[in-house]
Amino acid sequence: MLDLALEGKVGIVTGAAGGLGSPIAKVLADQGVAVILVGRRKDVLEEAAKRIGKKSVVHTCDVRSEDSIAELFSQIEKRHGPPDILINCAGINVRKPVTDLSLADWQGVLDTNLTAPFLLSKAAVPGMVKRGFGRIVNIASIFSFVTWERRAAYSASKGGLLQFTKTLALELARTGVTVNTVCPGVFRTPMNEQLLRDPIHQDFLRSIPMGRLGEPEELAGLVAYLCAPQAAYVTGAAFVMDGGWMAR
Ligand SMILES: NC(=O)c1ccc[n+]([C@@H]2O[C@H](COP(=O)([O-])OP(=O)(O)OC[C@H]3O[C@@H](n4cnc5c(N)ncnc54)[C@H](OP(=O)(O)O)[C@@H]3O)[C@@H](O)[C@H]2O)c1
Repeated sequence: MLDLALEGKVGIVTGAAGGLGSPIAKVLADQGVAVILVGRRKDVLEEAAKRIGKKSVVHTCDVRSEDSIAELFSQIEKRHGPPDILINCAGINVRKPVTDLSLADWQGVLDTNLTAPFLLSKAAVPGMVKRGFGRIVNIASIFSFVTWERRAAYSASKGGLLQFTKTLALELARTGVTVNTVCPGVFRTPMNEQLLRDPIHQDFLRSIPMGRLGEPEELAGLVAYLCAPQAAYVTGAAFVMDGGWMAR
């Protein structure tokens, strides 16, 4: 196994019980990171912790709430010390035409996918800067660049996340803290269950140059690399992993 020199680091993964978050947390734990698994459902996180192993601990937190994030950081700093790594992976999608999208739908997506990474970064960055090392990886999407019908809130949030990431990367460029986005195409996870049942799915599969969906473990290795000291010169960058879809 490639040694990413992450032994002893403390990392937060939001959405850690999810289809992408869980393998990301696993690969970091396998590299020796003490991984804090964050989500709202304790039972689901505890199931994930069993798969990920003893280097992981569970903290429930609703990332839409600034108070909940403050409580999360106070607990982590008491028990593990300040985090070196933050993976913003929690995310939701509401697929409706704009005319059917309620303000609550819109705000729910923006709060989870865009405002939460902002709030979590604000909480994590001062400690990272103080120690001269930090890694923030924001899980954005190919919808940071392109869009489809019925994706207005999601694409606005992921496009915003890309710009937020680049701005924060510039602000921290001389501090030892890097900030990057990983932009997945379509991966086989619970978020896509509905899409996979939709007849449009077969057309979409045909449109992917590699002719298949991504497997979550494929993404996890890239995220782990971006957390490593070896990736010190990578910041403000966006890494697309989509089977060639964006290349068309
Ligand atoms: N799967 C794909 O093909 C794909 C493609 C492009 C981008 N992405 C992005 O990748 C990320 C992960 O996607 P996924 O497929 O792994 O989704 P997923 O399986 O649905 O997992 C999402 C996770 O986020 C957590 N979450 C949602 N709202 C939260 C909140 N308010 N506070 C805390 N945790 C919350 C959920 O846990 P609780 O419900 O327990 O809170 C869940 O575990 C998302 O940002 C998504 O937009 C995914």
